[in-house]
Formats: sequence, structure tokens, C-alpha cells
Amino acid sequence: MNDNSPYVVTIDGPGGSGKGSLALSIAKELGFHLLDSGAIYRLLALKAMREDVDLDDENALVELVAALDIRFETGDELSIPLLDNEDVSAVLRTEETGDAASRVARHGPVRSALLAVQQAFFKAPGLVADGRDMGTVVFPEARFKFFLYASVEIRAQRRYKQLINMGLSASIPQLQADMTERDERDRNREASPLLPAVDALVVDSSLLDLNQVTELVLGHIRDVD
Ligand code: DC
Repeated sequence: MNDNSPYVVTIDGPGGSGKGSLALSIAKELGFHLLDSGAIYRLLALKAMREDVDLDDENALVELVAALDIRFETGDELSIPLLDNEDVSAVLRTEETGDAASRVARHGPVRSALLAVQQAFFKAPGLVADGRDMGTVVFPEARFKFFLYASVEIRAQRRYKQLINMGLSASIPQLQADMTERDERDRNREASPLLPAVDALVVDSSLLDLNQVTELVLGHIRDVD
């Protein structure tokens, strides 16, 4: 291929599969922009909880999207998510917000309303987008698509470490139960279920660390590009 036109790399997969860290390291290596689409669903869910909007009220949620004031500011390492100009990094990563995000994300009209918000992240020189439906719905024309998988046991252990490192409390059995329930909801919903795109490369990261997965994915991009 080897042309210089901007392109998209999508990384989809269940929570805790390591796609966020992978997307960050691939974006750094390629010098690309980054879209953490889960953060967008989390920001909407947080706004809904703050405004006392019912997470099952599709119309009210769509209205909320129209007035949503979100931004990502570039920090030293990670980008800082802002909701109504407030840094909400800590509350955004909690399991409560993640669960609310998964509920908000079930509604087709809400997903449609967020489509343009997500697609606007694609700018030169290119984009690495991570989520559940990046390769299937949001960027179906992406040049490279990856689907990251890991067993629920491994994912619960990874999430546990992340939460503890953030100074939050957590229990592995509880995380495993919550993840299983959220996976079921994400996989079985009618609107954009969590599924690998037919043209995605599926990577099992259960026994690989971040460096190994990054090398594998970058190797694939460089071989083909
Ligand atoms: O990746 P995450 O844990 O931050 O995502 C939180 C929830 O948002 C997840 O359970 C499902 C939903 N989500 C989605 O439906 N589609 C995306 N592209 C990203 C996240």
C-alpha cells in the first residue's frame, strides 16, 4: 500500500482485553491520534447519572448527546477526559460508570447520535480507535482491524491491578462476575453487538504482555503497509 494518506486502525474487544493500552502504544508508535470510544460512552453515562436521566430513556439520552460538552486534553501520558470542563478521569474509570456506560450503549438511537462524534476524531496523519464496534460500524473502511481477546479470568486480574493502582478498592471474583455480565450485555444487544469484523485479525492476548501484543500488531501493519 505504502501511500501517505491518513488511515484508521481499529482495535475492538471486551473490557480488560488490553485494547486501551495497546491502542495507546500503537498510536504513539505511528504518531496517530487516539479515540477511546468507551470513554465517550462513559462520559455520556456520567452526564446522565448527574442529570438524573433514566439510563433506559432513549429519547432523553439522545437529547443529552446533542448538548454533551466533552473534550480530551493531552496530558503527560494519557489524555484527560473533561465533562463540562471538569477533569473526570477518576470517576470515569470506576466499575459503576463502566456498567452505566454499557447500559447507555444498548440503545441504537444513542449509538447513532454518537457516530459523528466518534468519526470526527479521524484526522491526518491517522487514527487508532478502540472500542466494541470500531471495525464493524464506526470505521468499516479502516485499513487495519484487530480484535483483542483474553479469557475473563485474565481480564479480571488485569482490571484488578488497574483499579488498585488508581487507589480504588476491588475484588477479583466480583470483577469476574461483573465482566461476564457486561460481556453478555455487549455481545447480545441488537445495536452493534461486540463482534469481530469479518476482516479483523483476532489476537488472543491471554498469554502475551503489552510489548508482545504491540510488536505483533505493529509487525502486521508494517508487513502489509
Ligand atoms: O471499553 P470500556 O470499558 O471503557 O467501555 C464501557 C462500555 O461502553 C462497554 O461496556 C460497552 C460500551 N461501549 C460500546 O458499546 N461501544 C464502544 N465502541 C465502546 C464502548
